[in-house]
Amino acid sequence: MQDEDLRTWIQAVDDLGELERFDGASWDLELAAISEIALRERRPPPALLFDHIVDYPSGFRVLNGLLNSPRRTALTLGLGADLDSRGLVQAWRQRLRSLEPIAPRLVERGPILENEQRTAAIDLWQFPTPKWHEEDGGRYLGTACAVMTRDPDTGWINSGTYRVQVHDERTLSIFISPGKHGLIHRQKHFSAGQPCPVVISFGQDPLLFLVAAQSVGYGVSELGYAGGIKGGPIAILAGDHGIPFPAHAEIVVEGVILPDETRTEGPFGESTGYYASGARDEYVMRVDRLLYRDDPIITAAPPGRPPGENTYALSICRSALVWDALEQAGVPDVAGVCCHPVAGSRMLHVVAIRQRYPGHAKQAALALLGCSQGAYLSRYVVVVDEDIDPYDLEAVIWAVTTRCEPEGDIDIVRRMWSGPLDPIVPPEHKGFSSRAILDATRPWEWRDQFPRVVAFRPEHLAEVRARWGSRLGPPGGAAPLPRPGVGA
Ligand SMILES: Cc1cc2nc3c(=O)[nH]c(=O)nc-3n(C[C@H](O)[C@H](O)[C@H](O)COP(=O)(O)O)c2cc1C
Repeated sequence: MQDEDLRTWIQAVDDLGELERFDGASWDLELAAISEIALRERRPPPALLFDHIVDYPSGFRVLNGLLNSPRRTALTLGLGADLDSRGLVQAWRQRLRSLEPIAPRLVERGPILENEQRTAAIDLWQFPTPKWHEEDGGRYLGTACAVMTRDPDTGWINSGTYRVQVHDERTLSIFISPGKHGLIHRQKHFSAGQPCPVVISFGQDPLLFLVAAQSVGYGVSELGYAGGIKGGPIAILAGDHGIPFPAHAEIVVEGVILPDETRTEGPFGESTGYYASGARDEYVMRVDRLLYRDDPIITAAPPGRPPGENTYALSICRSALVWDALEQAGVPDVAGVCCHPVAGSRMLHVVAIRQRYPGHAKQAALALLGCSQGAYLSRYVVVVDEDIDPYDLEAVIWAVTTRCEPEGDIDIVRRMWSGPLDPIVPPEHKGFSSRAILDATRPWEWRDQFPRVVAFRPEHLAEVRARWGSRLGPPGGAAPLPRPGVGA
């Protein structure tokens, strides 16, 4: 079984040469700005470990930029180290085929029990919670976190990544978009006239963050899913409210979301690149137990203009899951899927198909828009022929501009699942948004007469390369231009 301790993971990233340490930065927009510069200017962006944070004891750390490279994504998912984005998507699909969930294992002890505070002794300000963006309405301890809730009807424990703002020593707010599992659980508890029990882990094995940030299925336990990926059960401790938490977590809070108390939540710089959901009243969580390891590490993934801190790994996982969903929906001959990091892995999806019959392209697009990984906050689906690489945005735009005639090849689907984060939807209409399907495949009826593509025969290019050798650079064609956050 792969280790489930964040600190082992950090050591492995250091061994890869992808960890950078910064001592002495401030929690107040400084470590955030260092992260932003590293994200935009370094290839691949390194993982950043901040220590000796201004105003806080040394050892109380923040880890940011966890999964923003192919090698760190591969390390976390247990895949081969030298795969590029396409290779990772295929390897992940392969792995998912044999994935059997493994239920977590209840243990008596774990490093998370090293420090404990209860009720009035709790002080959430003791952690160097960053202010991430200049116009944020507060400090957010939860970005790469796991918020665990229980379905009161079935007992199912969900784990989701939802942002968490600190309001005072014992008070947090959790922003959950409509339709997300944690909100459904909260609604059920509130409807029964009960507060909603909740446990949040603010630092944990990056795999637990990565699965919490995906929709792995309604009713599916993310802890079991993560155990299946690890090849063994995740060690958990029983919580006071019937919700367990990882024994190797760094910081854990237990408490309840109260149905009768709110605070102003937000604004917060969001994953679309805007402060779109603004500030509004949000129910608060009253913390009644706080646990943390010695020298705790906050794991972070502050959203922002994509590609961001979390879009690379999520793009890999989402592309694999969407591809599988298309096949499960009976869409044949899918040649590639990319849920693009440049659009936060949610708002632009490209599917390549080998066209087999009339309507094949539209079928692929509609299946994508209906599947659980493609339904939320989506906007554009582009379907291309198999000669177009869905990862290559230049090729995709070429296909759109030459094979997609707006009058007949663009369809609009209305009133789909959106939410408060959608910047183009005005406040009074938030909740719904439309989708555009761009059929950029060669028109079925005259595909065989469609103008031929201007290109050299591969054999001719190979002969020329053999003759002109090193003057022409590395074999295999032009290396793609590096795109921010996309990695290799
Ligand atoms: C860094 C990060 C922050 C996120 N913040 C939120 C958030 O504040 N609210 C929300 O509803 N979803 C947020 N998401 C998206 C959810 O994690 C995602 O939709 C996930 O599937 C939710 O879990 P669920 O499907 O079990 O509800 C965030 C994702 C990431 C990667």
